[in-house]
Amino acid sequence: MAALRLSAYAAVAVHLCLLLSPSSSLRVRGLSESEEASTVRQGSYRTAYHFQPAKNWQNDPNGPMYYKGVYHLFYQYNPHGATWSNVTISWGHSVSVDLVNWGALDNALDPDSPFDANGCWSGSATFLPDGTPVMLYTGVNASNNQVQNLAFPKNASDPLLREWIKPTYNSVIPLPADVLNDNFRDPSTAWLGRDGLWRVAVSAQIKDSVASTLIYRSKDFRRWERNAEPLYSSGAAGMVECPDLFPVAEPGIQNGLDLVPPNRAARHVLKLSVMATHQDYYVVGRYDDAADTFALVGAYNDCRTWHRFDYGHVYASKSFYDAGKKRRVLWSWANESDPEPVYIARGWAGVQTVPRKIWLASDGKQLLQWPIEEIETLRKTRVGLLGAEVNAGGMKEIIGVAGTQADVEVVFEIPALDGAENLDPNQLLDPQRLCGEKGASVPGGVGPFGLLVLASSDLQEHTSIFFRVFRHAGKYKVLMCTDLRRSTKRADVYKPPYGGFVDIDIEKESGISLRTLIDHSVVESYGGGGRAVITARVYLEHEETNTNRMLMFNNRTGMVKVSKLDAWELKAANVNVPVV
Ligand SMILES: *[C@@H]1O[C@H](CO)[C@@H](O)[C@H](O)[C@H]1NC(C)=O
Ligand SMILES: *[C@@H]1O[C@H](CO)[C@@H](O)[C@H](O)[C@H]1NC(C)=O
Ligand SMILES: *[C@@H]1O[C@H](CO)[C@@H](O)[C@H](O)[C@H]1NC(C)=O
Ligand SMILES: *[C@@H]1O[C@H](CO)[C@@H](O)[C@H](O)[C@H]1NC(C)=O
Ligand SMILES: *[C@@H]1O[C@H](CO)[C@@H](O)[C@H](O)[C@H]1NC(C)=O
Repeated sequence: MAALRLSAYAAVAVHLCLLLSPSSSLRVRGLSESEEASTVRQGSYRTAYHFQPAKNWQNDPNGPMYYKGVYHLFYQYNPHGATWSNVTISWGHSVSVDLVNWGALDNALDPDSPFDANGCWSGSATFLPDGTPVMLYTGVNASNNQVQNLAFPKNASDPLLREWIKPTYNSVIPLPADVLNDNFRDPSTAWLGRDGLWRVAVSAQIKDSVASTLIYRSKDFRRWERNAEPLYSSGAAGMVECPDLFPVAEPGIQNGLDLVPPNRAARHVLKLSVMATHQDYYVVGRYDDAADTFALVGAYNDCRTWHRFDYGHVYASKSFYDAGKKRRVLWSWANESDPEPVYIARGWAGVQTVPRKIWLASDGKQLLQWPIEEIETLRKTRVGLLGAEVNAGGMKEIIGVAGTQADVEVVFEIPALDGAENLDPNQLLDPQRLCGEKGASVPGGVGPFGLLVLASSDLQEHTSIFFRVFRHAGKYKVLMCTDLRRSTKRADVYKPPYGGFVDIDIEKESGISLRTLIDHSVVESYGGGGRAVITARVYLEHEETNTNRMLMFNNRTGMVKVSKLDAWELKAANVNVPVV
């Protein structure tokens, strides 16, 4: 029995033995203390358990998959520096057996062919009927046109899929005559229809400025023909990228579904990334697998009115079906929010959010998201509280866990909703603005209450994550905010208030939960059991010397009960140490 050996992040060489496939062995070299300091932490803001390459720029997650017991994540990567400007992008490649600890492999794709000479852009993995994975990705070709290419593993018996081969017959989907040369990209995972034809979705901006998600069909995965009707099309939002189409199980069922064979009964989710706003939107609808069209059920065609995966700082998400644990897992990219010269000097830019399990909520209308359970293996020191009270205007400190690498779960109970402020219908349209107007220091009837994290010893710097309940049309609306305006004294950082409504029946549930993952410069918060998620980047002026306090606060007029609090300090994961 061979083992995957990952040596511990700390200098102490503890070896985790994790099963890989019977035929292969993957060794990840441990780092000495000095290497750890220079190559891993690289000073402040670097994360300890979010996915990052050892250095340089990364953006979109690409081709995530589970193959022969190994998880693969590819990503848009600049091997030459921490910037996206003036570069031809490659595909970085990492492997894991638990989605938490990662080994770094050589680049999977580099821009070294006429059909991708100006960049190997985003793409997705598909399993052929014999189980072999294949990549469809966008090449920016030598004459600066976006085209779609194929890549195959050189040795499909190697669970690590170290080497990829690009057939010389690429590109397989040339630029269509009616599509702008620089707006034709991001092939999705392909799926096999009941007629035996493959389908793939590709983003395109048609020359009359209509954003479309085109469907191509193929018998052999090599010769592709465009379906006359697009899967989605709208003139409203400008270019939409990174299409993701996937089936979801019955409402409330947490198991994921694979794309093939198409499940006719299933509802499907369509996700699109809007370039103009840098936001991802999704909708639950019905995919017609004969016509290759998608019916929006009770939703508007303008995708900016759809649901958001995240009300914070993430983009270009991509999901995959994890056959190992029968779940659908979502990755998304969170970029830096300080200026380019600053992150270039730091030597790295971009993180991926923690992988999230996603499934259809029991109302059938939206997805729920939750950090994959494997993250919990990082939990160490725990502090807990039951039935605490936070009085009006009060705070309660969470003591005993380091606030830079933490996982905090808290359930707030609201004794009465009588005092809820009225919500002006216009304010429903812009929850982010509402979070700005009604910040943590503006006392309200029911809320604000929540957490202060990454707080400096004098509390001058702090990030507040909080809820506020409004009365609207005889019902209640729960607003969730992550307010970055006081998160750092640095003036060169983008630090907005973020916000979204949590689709929860607060009268029935009487309480609301918040789970926040803190990782140096990332604060990822899940409200109402994953109904609303906000990811933020936080850059304390002095991250390394800071005490990083965590507190609960309540600025409503009455008391708030904390029916349950669990806070864990988290160990660092092995993220992208080189595989030997
Ligand atoms: C990219 O190229 C332009 C023009 O050559 C130059 O002005 C700019 O500084 C370059 N940016 C980076 C980050 O190298
Ligand atoms: C392919 O990978 C398998 C498993 O790692 C290995 O045993 C085999 O030698 C490889 N074949 C070649 C041609 O490299
Ligand atoms: C790039 O793609 C365009 C459109 O598909 C094609 O016409 C052109 O020949 C390609 N250029 C190269 C160098 O392959
Ligand atoms: C990256 O961060 C900036 C703020 O610094 C934001 O305005 C921009 O939209 C982000 N880009 C993406 C692709 O998320
Ligand atoms: C609560 O409100 C008071 C009064 O406006 C303010 O001084 C305090 O900073 C607020 N607390 C938080 C956590 O914002």
